[in-house]
Amino acid sequence: MQGLLSSLEIIVLAAGQGRRMASARPKVLHTLAGRPLLAHVLDTATALAPRAIHVVYGHGGDRVRDSFPEAQVDWVMQPSQKGTGDAVRCALPRLDDQSLALVLLGDVPLIGRDTLKTLCERAVNGAALLTFEASHDNQYGRIVRDAQGLVERIVEWRDATPEQRLIREVNSGVLAAPVARLRHWIPRLTSANAQGELYLTDVIALAVADGIAVATASPARVAEVEGVNSRADLAVLERAYQDERAQTLMASGAQLMDPGRIDVRGSIVTGRDVLIDVNCVFEGRVEIGDDVHIGPHCVIRDSRIASGARIEAHSVMDGAEVGAGCVVGPFARLRPGTVLGARARVGNFVEVKASQVGANSKINHLSYVGDASIGARVNIGAGVITCNYDGARKHRTVIGDDAFIGSDTQLVAPVEVGAGATVGAGTTLTKDAPAGELTLSRVAQKTVNGWRRPEK
Ligand code: UD1
Ligand code: CA
Repeated sequence: MQGLLSSLEIIVLAAGQGRRMASARPKVLHTLAGRPLLAHVLDTATALAPRAIHVVYGHGGDRVRDSFPEAQVDWVMQPSQKGTGDAVRCALPRLDDQSLALVLLGDVPLIGRDTLKTLCERAVNGAALLTFEASHDNQYGRIVRDAQGLVERIVEWRDATPEQRLIREVNSGVLAAPVARLRHWIPRLTSANAQGELYLTDVIALAVADGIAVATASPARVAEVEGVNSRADLAVLERAYQDERAQTLMASGAQLMDPGRIDVRGSIVTGRDVLIDVNCVFEGRVEIGDDVHIGPHCVIRDSRIASGARIEAHSVMDGAEVGAGCVVGPFARLRPGTVLGARARVGNFVEVKASQVGANSKINHLSYVGDASIGARVNIGAGVITCNYDGARKHRTVIGDDAFIGSDTQLVAPVEVGAGATVGAGTTLTKDAPAGELTLSRVAQKTVNGWRRPEK
């Protein structure tokens, strides 16, 4: 048995169009938790360490292939989509006779690794099917068992009689069988059925006819075997997936104000006593330190937030590093390359890009800071703008420790403000401001005596 498992080969069926999605996009490229359905299946397949993964593709052809440029898989073209049996037939010449074949469906994304291991172990003597109990209003294939309870065959929903449609045990579409046996069965499939297709599911009746016992296994959770045939199915699975992510986060010590209102589209690691308010979305790789508080409606992608930081409501960050004890938002936007030192503050309607902000510095209101290096304890007044782009190139702004930049200042880069310098409000800074001095550019104020407003 160990021998067969060590020569496992996986066939992923991903050639179908997915008509019921009503989409121009191939079904397996629709996303769950921000990643294509097929990516989820390939991750699980890879985790089983098989000899090879063969992906049968067809509809949308190159779009599917091109979406996985890095994947270590054997792409098998199915020229026309004549059914799941035909799809396996296309892949079979690429498999080794000594292998055990495991068939996965590209539109069943949440299948679990442990479930598949169990299934494979049960398949080595013949064939094994992954089945589950479903309520009646579904169109999965029905598992027909004989009087002794042994599997006889699978009847597709469209071919099933009203009585067969009442059977609650249904086919997940996932099965495992030795390659050598599949080679006997697949050529004997016919398309004499309601859909005029070659059904992979018909190999079960052929196995039984050959006197081979068909084993079954069932998944740990039903979501593992739920297929995506419509956008409604996809929405249901997305929630099932997100619910599990939320449970995992809470188990690791995060407090979620509502586990039903969080979306994780990537990986997230949280420290102790993290609090996440409602409707936050996490994308890519996110790391959150101890005692971080994240307010409602934040979108956080590929970022690290150090311990004790507070991210206030409606903040958006992408590719940012937030230091310990920082306060960000509400309504702040941190773009890639933002690095905030400890206890820095970035307030409402402030955008920061490709900039370092030193410890204890503040940019609290209505500013744009791009391509800047800002020292420690700097105060950036309301409405300050780094003019970093001359229409062709980006230029840097450098601001030394303890500088004070008055409100509504434009820093026309490249430009430097020395340590401890003060820049007066409303300045358009086009030359460097020396350390420790007051610099300002301002038309002298005047009062026009006796001036009158025009009258209507
Ligand atoms: C299939 C099973 C059904 C099972 C259900 C579980 C068959 C005949 N039926 O039905 O018993 O309950 O899955 O979700 O197998 N595909 C190809 N080439 C083709 C046709 C399909 O690669 O020519 C791929 C599709 O891309 C899809 C998968 O096979 O990923 C399943 O095909 P689909 O048409 O969705 O089968 P179901 O009707 O859902
Ligand atoms: Ca399906």
